[in-house]
Amino acid sequence: MEEYDDSTYGQRIAEVYDAFYMDYDPASIELLAELARGGPALELGIGTGRIALPLYEKGVSVQGIDASEAMLSQLRAKPHGAEIEVLTGSFAEFKLEQRFSLIYVVFNTFFGLLTQEEQVQCFKSVREHLSPEGVFLLEVFVPNLCRFVNHQTVRAVSVSPSGVKLEVTQVDPVAQQLTTQHVLLSQNETRLYPVKLRYAWPTELNLMAQIAGLDLVQRWGSWSKEAFTKNSQMHISVYKLSE
Ligand SMILES: C[S@@+](CC[C@H](N)C(=O)[O-])C[C@H]1O[C@@H](n2cnc3c(N)ncnc32)[C@H](O)[C@@H]1O
Repeated sequence: MEEYDDSTYGQRIAEVYDAFYMDYDPASIELLAELARGGPALELGIGTGRIALPLYEKGVSVQGIDASEAMLSQLRAKPHGAEIEVLTGSFAEFKLEQRFSLIYVVFNTFFGLLTQEEQVQCFKSVREHLSPEGVFLLEVFVPNLCRFVNHQTVRAVSVSPSGVKLEVTQVDPVAQQLTTQHVLLSQNETRLYPVKLRYAWPTELNLMAQIAGLDLVQRWGSWSKEAFTKNSQMHISVYKLSE
């Protein structure tokens, strides 16, 4: 996929993002508010504010970073959206004056950093912006290479008389990268929404965090704090500054 950079995913999908993904687990807002403990929070890849806005409405002071102006325009157009302070740019390397009691990155967004170096750099940036008792929460999927045959897979997300939504993915198991097109087909048009991700195993995430001076304190298999097991398809991991 040529000409793909930090902003491509957001720039392309902004027009339909909320229609595709507006749902969220209410337990996510509860847990994020609990971890913020009354202090300020920073969302990496804040997007259209799917999570940040309900968190803000719950009384948490939220700021965000995002590489896509198109996603941030959607955020600003919503009630209270313009009240959320945002920085346009990459969340791999950022510099803000403020320190946060909670920094979080949800919905697999951390994997939007496409190399191990960038992912380690992100942990380092997080470390520099946490208050002494602050925590970093990350929500990502557990990689499942069984989905792929000959390094590729196609999933029919929805099929109806008026159209088809397909997810077409190729995997590079050496670079640990997934290259996906969400393909929307209808009678009169085709829409393509590309996304690239670099997946990492839960243990690799811990090691990258350690390199940056962060230690795992908790790993759950759901927002409702279910145990993380060999059957978990996603995890919510919480890191704190190393002693
Ligand atoms: C899947 S969306 C998630 C948005 C929001 N966090 C949510 O849960 O709905 C990923 C967001 O991360 C942003 N993004 C991806 N890579 C980025 C990067 N390297 N730096 C900053 N933002 C990035 C995209 O523009 C997009 O808004």
